[in-house]
Parts: sequence; structure tokens; C-alpha cells
Amino acid sequence: MTANRALGWGMGALPRIVRGEGSYVYDAAGRKYLDGSGGPAAFSLGHGNREVNAAIAAQLDKVACGYRYLFTSEPLEQLTSLLLARCGPQFGHIVYSGSGSEAVESAMKLALQYWDARGLATKTRFVARERSYHGNTLGALSVSGFLERRRPFEGSLLDVSFVSAANAYRPLGGLSGAGLVAALADELDARIKALGSEHVAAFIFEPVVGAAGGVVPAPPGYSQAVRAVCDRHNVLVISDEVMCGAGRCGTWRALEHDGIVPDIMAVGKGLAGGYIPLAATILNKELGDTILSEQGSFLTGHTYSGHTAACAAGLAVQRIIERESLVSRVRIRGEALRRDLRDALNRFEEVGDVRGRGYLIGIELVRDRKSKEPYPAERALSHLVGRNAFADGLICYPCAGNVNGVAGDTIIVAPPYNASDAELAELIDKLARAIGRTLAAG
Ligand SMILES: Cc1ncc(COP(=O)(O)O)c(C=O)c1O
Repeated sequence: MTANRALGWGMGALPRIVRGEGSYVYDAAGRKYLDGSGGPAAFSLGHGNREVNAAIAAQLDKVACGYRYLFTSEPLEQLTSLLLARCGPQFGHIVYSGSGSEAVESAMKLALQYWDARGLATKTRFVARERSYHGNTLGALSVSGFLERRRPFEGSLLDVSFVSAANAYRPLGGLSGAGLVAALADELDARIKALGSEHVAAFIFEPVVGAAGGVVPAPPGYSQAVRAVCDRHNVLVISDEVMCGAGRCGTWRALEHDGIVPDIMAVGKGLAGGYIPLAATILNKELGDTILSEQGSFLTGHTYSGHTAACAAGLAVQRIIERESLVSRVRIRGEALRRDLRDALNRFEEVGDVRGRGYLIGIELVRDRKSKEPYPAERALSHLVGRNAFADGLICYPCAGNVNGVAGDTIIVAPPYNASDAELAELIDKLARAIGRTLAAG
């Protein structure tokens, strides 16, 4: 790949970014883009925030990084206290890393280490869901039900057992409501029994599926039901909140909405809002205590785990989010944003569903609203919408393959938590124009 070529949406030569301010970024040709998806649902506070930049600069002036085996630091300690307070009293330990993939990788390894520490070393298998994404390292990719991203690596991935996606728009067996939840919970129960619960370490899922499903919130009652199945079989629950967590869905933990607590949780993206790469694996207190008392340390982590300047960035981002009550803004304003998007897009027969939670919203495009038949993958409809929006100065996040791994078109909208009402109106307007123009082109 040459430096300025996109692998993704067939965009050709990429513009060179030179500046960002609030919800906008600018390229070297002077074009302005509204960041309607916070890049890949990552930039929780928008760009160029002076307070965050000043906190990073102040830390760099002192020391960039204290190596985790030799030092702790004030930003790391304060960020840890803040995050544990956000997550609730059941959580007690955090392992930092630099990306969502690493956070998931650590979550998987810590689940295995926990069972080993408990003398149950046969519990080594993971159950995950189809149409899910957990990251690009081999372990995280192994639990991902994302066919396109897995294909070249099949054969070298872990042997993971997949159960159905929890998708109320495209439901298992055409079921709905409590019937759908019961069927999905039964499927998980049967799968764990078939594998033998003495062999199953953990079930991993995204409370609101991101790119692999085009934003799919679990149906009401699903998360409680799978938690109960896992408890019955002594299987850990790993919540992948890399995209949907850290406030993006209107609660700090995505699963707060569902009233359940996972054993291990991965967060990334919005945690430090893209100012410096930062992710975290957050552990149930008892689980972490058991590992530490039996084995002394968490056998995961990297050279830059808990990087001091990255923690300073995360701390500054999280303090602003708290001070400006941005998580509740996302919760309240998100509902209105979904409603306004529905109103603006309803005139297109091809808009099958507008769904999501908080500021994580998916728009699914279909060939036929009634049958929900997707467009053929070759049409690359979502990517064309993404390109047309980009040309018109709007960044959104097109995702393909949500129906069967190949066909299916969704557009993700995930604005910064502090985007203004005028910016949200511009987002809706430009997205409607991009969809209209793409459909009109045939
Ligand atoms: C749910 C989820 N988990 C994990 C990841 C991997 O995160 P990263 O790309 O930071 O490695 C992503 C990235 O999109 C994601 O959406």
C-alpha cells in the first residue's frame, strides 16, 4: 500500500488532513469536513480540544512515559480511580493498552488466567457471536464473526464456537420480543452444554454491535438472559465496549442500560477520544484479586501499557465529559437524533431501519423495505454513500456485509458527544443528500 492509498472504501488517493477543530477537520486543499462518525466512532470530544492538548503538553514537559514495571504516575492513578468510579463497585482492576484489539486480547488472556488460577485450566474455549467484531490481532479476530476480515487468516485462528447474532431487525427464526430472547439464550445454553462447561472460559459479545452489524443493540432482556446462562454454567461474560462504551451509548458502561455487570470489559476508542491511543481492560474485583493472589501479576500487557501521556489524555477527556454532563446529553439528544434521522430519511424506500442507542446510530439500506432484501454486495452501496458524503464534506462510517457477511449496507453515524445542535442538523442534511444522490445514480 502506498502512503496515500485507501484500502477501504475504494476512495483512491486520500486527502491530507492538516487541522481539526471541534466537530470539523480540514484538508490541505482547504476542504472542511463535518466529522459525523467521529472517524470510526472514536473521537468522543471532537478535534483540537485545547484543554486536552494542554494536559498532554504539560505531561510531556514533565515526562512522556514511566515504564509500568518501574513506576506508577499521577495521571494513571487518577484515571484508574475515575474509571473505577464510573464502572461501579464490582470492578477493581484495570489493564491499559493502546488499542481495542489489545484490550480484547487482554480480556481473553485474563479470562484464561483466572480459570488457571482457580485450578480449572481445562476452561480454555470461547463462545462468541456471528456478525461481531472484536479486533484485528489473531486472538481478537478469532472471536470475531466478521467473514471478510477473517478470510485470509482462517486456519490460523483459535477454534471459537459461534452462536447467532441478537438482531431484532433480522431475527433468528423470524422471532420477536421475549420469544427471540429465549431462543437466543437457549442456543447459548445448548452450545455451552455441547462444548462442556468445563471447557468454556467465556462468552464475549458487544452490547451494541458496531461495524460488523451496522449498529445492532441487543433486544431488551437479551443481556440479562445470557448473563444468567453464563452464571449457570460458570462461564465468564466479556463485554466488548470498545465502540459502544465510554459514554457513546448514553451510559458510561453500555451494559448499564441493560442492568447487568460483566466479569471483564474492554473499552477503547472514545476513552481518550483519539488524542493519544488508549484502551483498557477493566476487571471484576474478585476475579482480578484471585489472579493476583494466586499468580502475582496479570500476564498480559505491553511496553507502553499505561503510557503516562496517554493516561493524561484519557483523564482530560473523561474530566471534560463529566464536567459537561456529556453522557446524559448523548442519552437524551441521541433519541432526538434518531427521530430526526428517521424523519429526514423516511422518504427513501431503501432506508429499511434507523436504530441505535445514544450517539451510535446505524442506518440500514435495503433493496426492499418489506422483505428487507439487501442490495448485492457488488453494488457497494454503503461505500458509495460514504464517498458521496465525503465529497460533500461529511464523514460517516459505511459498513458492508451485515446481512450474511457479504451482502448488507449500513451507515454508522456517531458524532462527537459535544457536537452542537446546528452541527447535528448539518449532519442529517448532508447524509440525506448523500443517500439521495447515491440512489438516484442507480
Ligand atoms: C467492538 C470493537 N472491538 C474491538 C475493536 C478493535 O479496536 P482497535 O481497532 O482499536 O484495535 C473495534 C474496532 O473497531 C470494535 O469496534
